[in-house]
Amino acid sequence: MYYPEELIEEVRQKNDIVDVISGYVGLQKKGSNYMCCCPFHGEKTPSFSVNRSRQIYKCFGCGEGGNVLTFVMKYENCTFPEALKILADKAGVALPQMEYSEEAKRRESRRQRLLAVNKEAATFYYYQLRTQRGAKAQEYLDKRGLSEETKKSFGLGYAPSRGEELLVYLRKKGFTDDLIRDAGLAKTDERRGTTTQFWNRVMYPIQDINHRVIGFGGRIMGDSDSGPKYLNSPETEIFDKSRNLYGMNYARASRSGNIILCEGYMDVISLHQAGFTQAAASLGTAFTPGQAGLIRKYTKDVLLAYDSDGAGVKAALRALRILRDAGMSGKVINMAPYKDPDEFIKNLGQDAFQERIDNAENAFLFEIRMLERDFNMEDPEEKTNFHNQIARRLCEFGEDVERENYLTAVAEKYHIGFDNLRKLVVNTAARTGGYAAAPERPHSGIQSRSRNTPEEKAKKLQRLLLTWLTDYPQLYFKIKAYISPEDFTDALYSRVAERMFEDIEKNRLNPAGIINMFEDEKQQSEAASLFTTKLPELETEAEREKAFRDIVLGVKNNSYEQYLARSGVDITALSKVVEGKKALEELGKMHISFN
Ligand code: UTP
Ligand code: MN
Repeated sequence: MYYPEELIEEVRQKNDIVDVISGYVGLQKKGSNYMCCCPFHGEKTPSFSVNRSRQIYKCFGCGEGGNVLTFVMKYENCTFPEALKILADKAGVALPQMEYSEEAKRRESRRQRLLAVNKEAATFYYYQLRTQRGAKAQEYLDKRGLSEETKKSFGLGYAPSRGEELLVYLRKKGFTDDLIRDAGLAKTDERRGTTTQFWNRVMYPIQDINHRVIGFGGRIMGDSDSGPKYLNSPETEIFDKSRNLYGMNYARASRSGNIILCEGYMDVISLHQAGFTQAAASLGTAFTPGQAGLIRKYTKDVLLAYDSDGAGVKAALRALRILRDAGMSGKVINMAPYKDPDEFIKNLGQDAFQERIDNAENAFLFEIRMLERDFNMEDPEEKTNFHNQIARRLCEFGEDVERENYLTAVAEKYHIGFDNLRKLVVNTAARTGGYAAAPERPHSGIQSRSRNTPEEKAKKLQRLLLTWLTDYPQLYFKIKAYISPEDFTDALYSRVAERMFEDIEKNRLNPAGIINMFEDEKQQSEAASLFTTKLPELETEAEREKAFRDIVLGVKNNSYEQYLARSGVDITALSKVVEGKKALEELGKMHISFN
């Protein structure tokens, strides 16, 4: 789908960034900016800043930044066209319908057909469960304690032993073998031709959050049969296992204010039947950041109800990390002495489970408790190691208050002297370079950049220069004889500089618009950082003039060095350098007034 740039700009301009972000989080005015705690990573002191005149936002903790469109994309976890639609609706801008390209139209209608064939298959399985042939499957589900209402609301079904029947049924409905195969419902091989994926299994349709069937899980009845216990649809164009959760179509509407994350389809179904309609599960694969993003649209509180065995604990520890990276809070429900929520509910019932929810263990304390199992506390050396590990983890808290609170809790729980543990934490922090300021976010680009390479120093100067020009566009005219977009050594920086210089010449500088030049989120964030680098706080005019001149000199110097390194020492290069040196000298002597 392609929208003209002017239209995108119109939507953006009609949605003031401060107004829009205020609709999502509480902003407080601080100087010329608006601040709050960053919605994209966990923090307790605000480092998320919104600037009305530039129409951009930026988090100094995690590096996230962009304009009003990128904010909505991130916060709503949606695509660019979806964000555009949300903001266009808000501002009463009509988006043209015919903007679908032929390609997009084809893709959309193919999605529709894949959804249609899945829906038809679900209908078929649903019906089969309620025939004579489905009797055994009915009996199996009854034995597992599922009510008729539960079976109905989850659309449970039965895939008969003779798989061809589904094919006959779907072909009669007008679906081609190719489409049936592409939907993951059948396979073709040379020996047997086209055969269905599922036979003689209880079928659990998997729905997206809009209740559309996108795939299936199929379970054998009983334990001893050959083949895997559950067989799932393969990933298809409409079935992305890393971005969907089983039961989420109901869980998102639950009023509980949290999500209970489980491992199995049956866990979700049992919990819903017992009234815990906030339960959801991943789809036969480990929990992913994409799924965390999906949940975050509805709530930040996630309770893990994973199996109590070793694999379950390992999976829970992984999921907690993912939740933390997504700025969400995770807790762990203790299932002991039962294996999973389904068994727990069956044996102890709903009230007991509610009690376990109320007593769910905080992620940090759970991690430490699991860590403890790896050490033999009878052995002094191992015990010391354990304490060191605790100290290391405590160092990861950027907030003093939070760290102190956990320190107190852990010291008490593991009978470590408070002062000793505290000393250990301080020493660890000193050794490893202090407390972490904010969680490292691998995709933020800014945090993960190593800070002290010459290349990074040069880029920092370039960022400072662009930020400075954003604040004082008139300075551009004083330096334009010396600085050109080519002096920005990074391709993205250079593109931004070029556009910025052009805009300043035309007296229409518009940082938020420049961000729209980039489609990729990471690039948008990086572009935003070019307008929001922290400038040194300087008191006097003279100090500022000197600082600015040094930055311009630094950028130019680096640009020549790079040029030299690239081109060697042929004649043109030499003359260029001589010329450049002269320009540098001139620049060094120049008086750049801010007025
Ligand atoms: P579990 O073995 O815990 O299954 O696997 P469960 O849901 O408790 O199953 P029941 O109670 O025996 O019916 C958890 C999840 O892992 C995936 C499924 O998504 C299952 O719900 N799984 C498990 C598979 O995809 N294939 C398998 O063979 C087993
Ligand atoms: Mn189970």
